[in-house]
Amino acid sequence: MTDLGQEALQLVSLHGSIAAAARAAGISRSSMRDRLSRTGWKLGKPTRQLAAPGISTGGIAEIHRIDRELSRPASHAGRTHLVIPDSHAHPDFPNDRFDWLGRFLLDLKPDVVVDIGDMADIPSLSIYDGARSVGGAGGKKSFEGRRYKLDVAAAIDARRRILLPFDTENSRLIAAGEKPLILPELHSCEGNHEDRIRRVSSLIPELDGVISIDDLEIEKLGWKFHEFRIPAIIDGIAYAHFLISGVMGKPVGGVNHARSLILKGLTSSTVGHSHLRDFAETVTADNRRLLGLIVGCFFDFHADFAGPANSLYWRGLVVKRCVQAGNYDHQWISLDYLRATYGH
Ligand SMILES: [Fe+2]
Repeated sequence: MTDLGQEALQLVSLHGSIAAAARAAGISRSSMRDRLSRTGWKLGKPTRQLAAPGISTGGIAEIHRIDRELSRPASHAGRTHLVIPDSHAHPDFPNDRFDWLGRFLLDLKPDVVVDIGDMADIPSLSIYDGARSVGGAGGKKSFEGRRYKLDVAAAIDARRRILLPFDTENSRLIAAGEKPLILPELHSCEGNHEDRIRRVSSLIPELDGVISIDDLEIEKLGWKFHEFRIPAIIDGIAYAHFLISGVMGKPVGGVNHARSLILKGLTSSTVGHSHLRDFAETVTADNRRLLGLIVGCFFDFHADFAGPANSLYWRGLVVKRCVQAGNYDHQWISLDYLRATYGH
């Protein structure tokens, strides 16, 4: 549909007739009819009625029908996305939740999976706990015993567990001579915890190439990697660990986090990072629905660095259905539900 056609439909809907819409647009009625005809709508007789094939028309009822058409997505088709919020695989805590996630993934069979970042916690490079490698002042007692290799192993193990049920099912299907399942598109957004690895090699140049983000084997395990702070645009949604609020590169946040996200970026956006959940929507003058989503987190242990803020966290997964042009129906899947249903 052309922009002029869309605008013509909106004007007719707003003003109640082709003549009034033409007057408002400052064009002739025949020009307005011409613009309407470009939308695929046929002009019936008398000329004030707009008729779509197979639908009887007339007067104000027709205008209401146009309203419904304008407020409805072009199609109810669209893809299914599964969003994995900050999951913080950590060598001191079990990775069972990734097994539950893998079983859920096999049941859901989404088209797209998005890891929103911080799947690798990397506590050995925590500046909060004093890791000197990233500019810390010296290790706290809690820092003792932390080892980079263990951190990396925990993150790789998490990613393998997510896909294990899918891979196992496909092995079974292939062995039975049946068609294997199509693996979802896998996207991994880099979080600030993964970014710790980059900071080490920037602060200690002699370690450049010794440790790197490749240690996490993200792409090797089949995920498309999206660098920190650069959104991945998937089906009209900007996915990132967080989106920046301005030239300082700080995250968008605050009490109205989800609303701020869409007002800043002017596009449907989904982020993690805060470990809280929030949702907001707004509809633009040209009838685009912008959805802002903050997805919480996906870990079940107490995060030492957060203290009492742990009780504020929302823990679980997010499923989006009918994803199309930034619009979708979302569903919160709590970690408690996931454990009760898939933790066997
Ligand atoms: Fe996080």
